[in-house]
Amino acid sequence: MDKKLLFLDCDPGVDDAVAILLALASPEAEVVGVSAVGGNVPLERTLRNALDIVAFAGRPDLPVYPGAKMPMTGALITAEDFHGTDGLGGVPIPQSTAQPQAEMAWDAIHRLAKANPGLLTVVATGPLTNLGIALTKWPDLAGLLKEIVIMGGASAYGNTTPAAEFNFLADPEGAEAVFQSGASITVLPLDVTHKCYVNCEEIAQLRSQATPQANFAAEMMDGGRVEQCEQWFGVSGSIMHDPAAALYALHPQLFTAKTCWVGVETGGVHSRGKMVTDAFTDASLTANCRLCYDVDRAGFVSALLSLMERY
Ligand code: RIB
Ligand code: CA
Repeated sequence: MDKKLLFLDCDPGVDDAVAILLALASPEAEVVGVSAVGGNVPLERTLRNALDIVAFAGRPDLPVYPGAKMPMTGALITAEDFHGTDGLGGVPIPQSTAQPQAEMAWDAIHRLAKANPGLLTVVATGPLTNLGIALTKWPDLAGLLKEIVIMGGASAYGNTTPAAEFNFLADPEGAEAVFQSGASITVLPLDVTHKCYVNCEEIAQLRSQATPQANFAAEMMDGGRVEQCEQWFGVSGSIMHDPAAALYALHPQLFTAKTCWVGVETGGVHSRGKMVTDAFTDASLTANCRLCYDVDRAGFVSALLSLMERY
């Protein structure tokens, strides 16, 4: 079977880091590029982290593209309280000598989509600034992409404001541009990613693989983040938001989704960045995505451990 062509747009970030390792370990996927965006930590750091993680995964040759430093409007918001100032929870990783490409993310995504019409899936696990720019600058891009798999949003409560999840709050205009672009979209909001957690016993199983990559991934999950997920969100393990998007791209059968309309609030005092969903009420709103709301968690963890075992 032909490999799935993937492009990873991310803001590493402890969970982005695990998502990159998983995608690069998969025998079913060919990752054709990675891009960084300012998000969990500023772009200089997310770009350096992406280069180092890709090399750490054994792919120092893989092109890594710079993206946006800032959201489409407003100030950059970061999440150092969870990811640390280095974006990787202070966990050391070998420094790669690789340098980023000169081409910007939005142009690289378009070029690769044109070269592989209907075959390229973008897995977006950070603020949607790069994709928002790409879909605005290149009107043909929406029709060229096979799918955009997005980690972001929340039907109910946010994780950064009461209304908004981090990626959508970080760039509401970028997220809204993506959802209204006409591209084929699957979104994995907190509704499902809070079910994609790895508990302490499972983290210990990962550590028992005893490879540098498994130990690094276990550190990305651990380091007090299990306790934070329990205390902040009442979830019984380390929430792996971005690995959920990567594993959806690789094994969609693990997830349950519904088709609905999604918009992202760009105004509002309390609601900026809120994911607004409509599955029932307004017939004039044409469904524009598949929204994942459930997961086979045992299958998710098993797939994560199996992929990590390939290092
Ligand atoms: O809200 C979770 C998302 O925000 C994840 O992508 C995490 O990496 C942060 O970017
Ligand atoms: Ca992320």
